[in-house]
Amino acid sequence: MPPSPIAQALLGALLLFTQPATAESSTLREGALPSYHYGAPIAVECMNRSIETGEHIQNEKDEIEWIPFPSCNETLKPLEFHYGIESEINCTIPMVDDPFFHLLEFYIHSDAPLACRLPARPPPHVEAVGAEPYKQEYIPLVFALAGTLQLSHLHISTHLNVLLHSTPKHHIHPHDSGVLDSGAAYSTSPLSHMEGSQTRRLVIGDPLPLSFSVRWFPTPALPKTEGKVEWQGIGGHIYASTMFYSLVSFITGVLASAVYFFGVILPKRLRGRGMGGATPLGYGMGVGNGWGISKRMD
Ligand SMILES: *[C@@H]1O[C@H](CO)[C@@H](O)[C@H](O)[C@H]1NC(C)=O
Ligand SMILES: *[C@@H]1O[C@H](CO)[C@@H](O)[C@H](O)[C@H]1NC(C)=O
Ligand SMILES: *[C@@H]1O[C@H](CO)[C@@H](O)[C@H](O)[C@H]1NC(C)=O
Repeated sequence: MPPSPIAQALLGALLLFTQPATAESSTLREGALPSYHYGAPIAVECMNRSIETGEHIQNEKDEIEWIPFPSCNETLKPLEFHYGIESEINCTIPMVDDPFFHLLEFYIHSDAPLACRLPARPPPHVEAVGAEPYKQEYIPLVFALAGTLQLSHLHISTHLNVLLHSTPKHHIHPHDSGVLDSGAAYSTSPLSHMEGSQTRRLVIGDPLPLSFSVRWFPTPALPKTEGKVEWQGIGGHIYASTMFYSLVSFITGVLASAVYFFGVILPKRLRGRGMGGATPLGYGMGVGNGWGISKRMD
């Protein structure tokens, strides 16, 4: 049975839409690039480094060698994040072997960064015939690991905050899909060595219990502070950011006191002492007429 005219028309339309993208339809092609669905896994990969020098390792083609982040005992998989999902992730590296211990020394000493990357988009499902091969793009994610080095061991701050930004979209919906824009990861409370805090004394052979607090921003911008302080996560929750608001109030308070001190109290005191011999650099040697304060000479 020959196909009906409607089926033929549909087939035609289908073929039209599956034609390889041409140069002038590059915007169409842009739009056709895949984006992450809410919750899609995003694998973390990091530069492989020489344990002798900490330098990155290159392959025969002078390309940097990227390897998966170490596997977590919890998932038995290398660390991964999930698009748009704000979570607390535990990732225990079951055993810090000798090479990894030396690399941790490089990272903590900032001789080499723990430089990782995330694919900006998921891989495409199908390659259009005749189209240019799809080139995966990545965003850098440096894990700023903090700690201190000792002769026989090291202390490492095991909790890290991970901030991930998406590229802006015209309309943001809860549980949105999207593309990665940028990110940052850093150890928190590096100066705390209190018992029970998330700092670990580490020797070769120990497990390394890392934990990550992952937060998402729907645009490259940070939460705004004009008027109300609001933080709209991609997950669709509004975080009434009381902590942040308190911090802003605190800083405002400090600034107000400073303005009061320098604007009201200090000029009064200065008037009280007659500003005699006040010079910025001349130390009362008769040069300058600036605002520095020297010892009273009366
Ligand atoms: C990293 O590089 C070293 C030295 O070239 C190599 O022995 C090691 O297998 C590499 N690591 C991975 C996971 O490929
Ligand atoms: C992560 O580990 C901590 C400490 O071991 C534990 O209290 C917490 O419940 C764990 N969180 C998750 C999400 O597994
Ligand atoms: C790794 O996971 C296994 C199974 O859950 C557990 O028995 C073991 O104690 C874990 N090891 C570490 C270092 O957390």
